[in-house]
Amino acid sequence: MAKQILVTGGTGFIGSHTVVELQQAGYDVVIVDNLCNSKIETVDNIEKITGIRPQFECFDLTDVEKINAFFKKYTSIEAIIHFAALKAVGESVYKPLEYYRNNLNSLMNLLDCMKTYGVKNLVFSSSCTVYGQPDKLPVTENTPRKPAESPYGNTKAIAEDIMRDYAKANAEIGINCLALRYFNPIGAHPSALIGESPVGIPNNLVPYITQTAAGVREQLSIFGDDYNTPDGTCIRDFINVVDLAKAHVVAIDRLLSKKNKANYEYFNIGTGSGVSVMELVKAFEKSTGVKLNYKIVGRREGDIEKIWADTSLANNELGWKAEATIEDTLLFSWNWEKNCRGIK
Ligand code: NAD
Ligand code: UD1
Repeated sequence: MAKQILVTGGTGFIGSHTVVELQQAGYDVVIVDNLCNSKIETVDNIEKITGIRPQFECFDLTDVEKINAFFKKYTSIEAIIHFAALKAVGESVYKPLEYYRNNLNSLMNLLDCMKTYGVKNLVFSSSCTVYGQPDKLPVTENTPRKPAESPYGNTKAIAEDIMRDYAKANAEIGINCLALRYFNPIGAHPSALIGESPVGIPNNLVPYITQTAAGVREQLSIFGDDYNTPDGTCIRDFINVVDLAKAHVVAIDRLLSKKNKANYEYFNIGTGSGVSVMELVKAFEKSTGVKLNYKIVGRREGDIEKIWADTSLANNELGWKAEATIEDTLLFSWNWEKNCRGIK
């Protein structure tokens, strides 16, 4: 019988792509999402891609009663992938308690239930934000973490510490936690049926680019060209969302086949290459044939200059490697944007 996996935040951007990859790898998926940042139609679109409708439960993971009722109903869950979180960095600065409460209480409620209901394995969405601006590049998992720049970033650092301590305290009952530190996830499913749908004005670069190309935004602002980088714009490690989703399948396989080397592990999930903001804009124009209206403006507060991953640990230990090219990835984003807007 197919092994059952709980995917929290499974109608969200990364969660929905991961549900697809899990189903295609033969797993049976149950989604929990309160739809605070996603739409129920995503469940239909997942079914259109895979031919399998994932089970879906709509509730808030901070609700202790509801989460217990859920685990009483679903007694075959073997592992959890925990995506559900609030993720707007800027908003977290003026609503810190909302972020700490939502992101940390959800995690702690799940950890409590793992013990109560005998679920042994958890994969968690962490972020390269825990490294801040590193002193040395690329960053390995041994690169020291730096104090978080935002309450959102801090929820990731604290969540990692909570999982480390919880896994240690429950080692004898076989609890395992594995954190994936994502670099900059971009792209959409090649089917153009699922992708990223930011609410309001996008903060992140690629949704801003695709919305500008679609004519929804007038002009892309490039934040700063006076950084200490070859073309003066910031450098990031942009990881294709389907590649990222596949890393979760590999992480689940690892935990369920007991191949993990410690009961708390963490891995960088990126491509291993840095791409500048200007290079990304040029790659978008090249692969889509759409000319972007952009201007250079001042730096954005809180941005780090450059970061990219050393992915050797994920490559060697997980046997996972990013495969998509940046051009294909941007074309998938554009096809998704066009599909959402009804552009031919
Ligand atoms: P997303 O907002 O698209 O998905 C998160 C989902 O969780 C949403 O569908 C939302 O409705 C749900 N959710 C939030 N709080 C909930 C709660 N209390 N109960 C139930 N459901 C809840 O975000 P995403 O981009 O898919 O990110 C997924 C995870 O990856 C998050 O933990 C995020 O912090 C992390 N992450 C994202 C990025 C990125 O750039 N997208 C980078 C690093 C880490
Ligand atoms: C941000 C968060 C990070 C989070 C990630 C995913 C900050 C400081 N970091 O990463 O914690 O994990 O989002 O949600 O907020 N840019 C432009 N014009 C735009 C938008 C972005 O030039 O309109 C530039 C930025 O200055 C940056 C790069 O594009 O250099 C990437 O920005 P973005 O997509 O927002 O991601 P990060 O800032 O890397």
